[in-house]
Amino acid sequence: MNHQLIQDEGHRNRLTVPELERRMREWLSGEYRAAVFEDNGEVVGYALFREQTEEIYLRQLFVVRHRRSQRLGRRAVQILRSQVWPTTKRLTVDVLVSNPRAVAFWRAVGYTDYCLTLEIRPDSSTCT
Ligand SMILES: CC(C)(COP(=O)(O)OP(=O)(O)OC[C@H]1O[C@@H](n2cnc3c(N)ncnc32)[C@H](O)[C@@H]1OP(=O)(O)O)[C@@H](O)C(=O)NCCC(=O)NCCS
Repeated sequence: MNHQLIQDEGHRNRLTVPELERRMREWLSGEYRAAVFEDNGEVVGYALFREQTEEIYLRQLFVVRHRRSQRLGRRAVQILRSQVWPTTKRLTVDVLVSNPRAVAFWRAVGYTDYCLTLEIRPDSSTCT
C-alpha cells in the first residue's frame, strides 16, 4: 500500500517494495504508529502518524484504489480524531502541491493551509 501511495501521490521516492517494508518496520519500531482500516473484513487503507508533545503529524493516509471516493478517507480521519488521537493537540499533514486531489481531500476533512515549502533542486539551471 505504501508503494501504491507513492505512485498515486506522484512522489519522487523510488524505493522498492522491500526497501519500503524495511523503512516501515523502522518507523513502527520507533516513533510512528499505524492504523489499518477494514470494511467487512477487507483492508481498505491505512494511516501512519507520529505523536509529539503538542502535535500529531499524519505522515501517510491511503485508501485502496478501488474503494476511493466512497468517503472512507473521511471516515478514517473521523476515527483517528474521535477514537485514537487526543483532542488537545495540533494536527498536521504535508501534501504535495502536485497532488490536487489530496489537497482537496485534506481541506474537505478540516485541515487548513499553513506552510508552503519552496525549493531549488540541485540539478536545476539558474533562473534567467
Ligand atoms: C486522498 C485519499 C486518502 C482520499 O480518500 P477517499 O476515500 O478517496 O476520499 P473521500 O471519499 O473520503 O473524500 C472526502 C472528501 O475529499 C474530497 N475529495 C476526495 N477525493 C477527491 C478528488 N479526487 N477530487 C476532489 N476532491 C476530492 C471531497 O471533498 C470529498 O468530499 P465528500 O465526502 O463530500 O465527497 C485517497 O484518494 C488516496 O489514498 N489517495 C492516494 C494516496 C494519497 O494521495 N494520500 C494523501 C497524501 S499522504
